[in-house]
Amino acid sequence: MLDRIDHVGVAVEDLEASISLYEGTLGMPAVHREVVAEQGVEAALLDVGDGHVELLSPLAEDTPVGRFLARKGPGLHHVAYAVADIEATLGQLTGAGIALIDERPRTGIRGSRVAFLHPRSTGGVLTEIVEPHA
Ligand code: CO
Repeated sequence: MLDRIDHVGVAVEDLEASISLYEGTLGMPAVHREVVAEQGVEAALLDVGDGHVELLSPLAEDTPVGRFLARKGPGLHHVAYAVADIEATLGQLTGAGIALIDERPRTGIRGSRVAFLHPRSTGGVLTEIVEPHA
């Protein structure tokens, strides 16, 4: 159902400092940066092997990542798995009794389509599925 880990999402307070840490110190090339208004974040994507780290900086306090930072501080936010067909996967997950945050895919970065699963169904881990842009 899930092909591979696509990325881990990390909530950050200072995007520039975090890019400097992941790229400059940890050696992961920053390959993409984008404001995703629909999710209330500015995101930076860094390559690590076949996967990515996605740094998420909130556009405002009253956004999901802004509320996460206020509650928990910076840190690991979600794990994302790549899928070939996001609608089919959402159907399979629903059939398996997994609670969804997103009933329908929404727009992710780099033209991907994404949906979040509810952590109460996934052992407390906020889980995203991603259908990468063709
Ligand atoms: Co993500």
